[in-house]
Amino acid sequence: MTYLENFAFYDFHPATEDFYTAVTTGLTHHPKYLSPKFFYDTVGSQWFDAITKLPEYYPTRTEINLLNIYGEEIADLLGHDNLLLELGSGSSIKIRTLLDVLQPAVYMPIDISREHLRDAAMSIAQDYPSLQVCAVCADYTDSIELPKLAVAYPCVAFFPGSSIGNFEPNDAKLFLKRVATMIGNGGKLLIGVDLRKDPNLLHAAYNDSQGVTAAFNLNLLQRINKELGANFQMDSFQHYAFYNPILHRIEMHLFSMKNQTVRCNGELFDFQKGESIHSENSYKYSIEVFHQLANQAGFNVLQFWQDDQALFSLHCLQVQ
Ligand SMILES: C[S@@+](CC[C@H](N)C(=O)[O-])C[C@H]1O[C@@H](n2cnc3c(N)ncnc32)[C@H](O)[C@@H]1O
Repeated sequence: MTYLENFAFYDFHPATEDFYTAVTTGLTHHPKYLSPKFFYDTVGSQWFDAITKLPEYYPTRTEINLLNIYGEEIADLLGHDNLLLELGSGSSIKIRTLLDVLQPAVYMPIDISREHLRDAAMSIAQDYPSLQVCAVCADYTDSIELPKLAVAYPCVAFFPGSSIGNFEPNDAKLFLKRVATMIGNGGKLLIGVDLRKDPNLLHAAYNDSQGVTAAFNLNLLQRINKELGANFQMDSFQHYAFYNPILHRIEMHLFSMKNQTVRCNGELFDFQKGESIHSENSYKYSIEVFHQLANQAGFNVLQFWQDDQALFSLHCLQVQ
């Protein structure tokens, strides 16, 4: 591995036992469920990157356009020489649109997908040699003790990709409260939020014609096979995603195409034909509802931006 003076890596990756406990808990629950955070092993992160390039998947390109158009305004609000924390940084593509204008002192990407994070963060460190890059592999839903240098700078946070939509609304509020504590009084958060829109557009975004989202969803079962020695048969489960207009959310499921029993680490899990594992929710917000949520979590809204078609939004929030 290349040694870079401006690069540090902290590894708090969740233990395999925690993954096993979550899988057995989720598969014995009625209905069966698994957290979307488990999508992201190295292969899952690569599938997600492929999703972001799909013609049907408008969120990534729309958010990047907003960052490009409003970058200067965003930088004026967030300020310079900060510690810039990115939650769920993935390939760190979006932050590249902001680094030149923001000029942070430290970039701290936090992600659960260890090898993918390491590669993406190292590539930032190589491309920005005067920026200190301090990558943290951790589950951001756990309480994370940030590396010490986090206290030496004012902290701003970036939470792109509408990952906030993966939380149940009440959990989203609790999570934002946690972020507020992390960045401290007066701290600022730039957050990307997907908007309510024509359900057909939403449906297409999660049911792409090339089957990439299906492969991403099914990789969860492959990951369980690989890491926990399970025997899910990949051709016996199918991707199913739909928009629920009452709850304003996309639901992703993996449904069993036959009656079957799956073995995982010595335990047996029965599936009826048509039974599903609920693998993700992606809540869509209106601007008003999101601002209410942000206020309830202790943030003021400083500014927000959306594209002409009102597909996606960015919000600059400040801890009250
Ligand atoms: C939907 S992708 C978004 C990636 C990138 N931020 C973007 O906007 O394109 C979610 C990212 O968050 C990471 N992630 C998901 N759940 C996480 C968790 N609980 N803790 C830390 N990272 C998480 C995933 O590994 C992935 O990189």
